[in-house]
Amino acid sequence: MKKQEEKPVVEMTEIVLPNDANTLGNILGGKVMHLIDIACAIAASRHCRRPVVTASIDYLDFKHPIKVGELIIIKAALNRAFHTSMEVGAKVWSENLLTGERRHTSSAYLTFVALGEDGRPVPVPEYVPETPDEIRRWKQAEIRRQHRLEQKKRLSNFDG
Ligand SMILES: CC(C)(COP(=O)(O)OP(=O)(O)OC[C@H]1O[C@@H](n2cnc3c(N)ncnc32)[C@H](O)[C@@H]1OP(=O)(O)O)[C@@H](O)C(=O)NCCC(=O)NCCS
Repeated sequence: MKKQEEKPVVEMTEIVLPNDANTLGNILGGKVMHLIDIACAIAASRHCRRPVVTASIDYLDFKHPIKVGELIIIKAALNRAFHTSMEVGAKVWSENLLTGERRHTSSAYLTFVALGEDGRPVPVPEYVPETPDEIRRWKQAEIRRQHRLEQKKRLSNFDG
């Protein structure tokens, strides 16, 4: 049977339950990070059809709280495939189930590395962006990668 070609995009929706909340009745930041990590890992793995590991999270903000009883919606999309690594972007919204009001609450960029059977990084297929938004994110991902690599180099040369 021919495999269906999927866009490396994932949308996850959950209702925020009391067990995932802090004492103010808002979802815990760690829970949001957990859901982002899972949605982004699925997007990366869907692209390369291999197990992936999170190599880094280089940006994550929390703009607004999400309350118990509201929905948390995470959309993750592959921004760019490099050699063995891939950058995935995530955007998070809250939704009030009764009014339908949605708020953008977080954004994040994560890097995943594909692993071969020996547990070592393996090359991933090229990702060709198509829409203007995909092309913009693809270009921006290269700029972020340059910053990541430069920062890693600068820190490894820094001896205090
Ligand atoms: C991520 C990991 C596989 C990289 O292994 P490595 O031996 O450093 O591999 P390499 O130096 O060959 O780098 C492989 C790729 O990872 C990228 N990479 C390595 N460290 C990175 C980091 N901190 N941030 C972003 N990318 C990173 C490299 O740029 C390279 O990408 P490219 O092939 O597209 O150019 C390894 O560090 C690892 O297994 N980390 C633990 C991952 C994990 O368990 N995550 C779950 C949470 S604990």
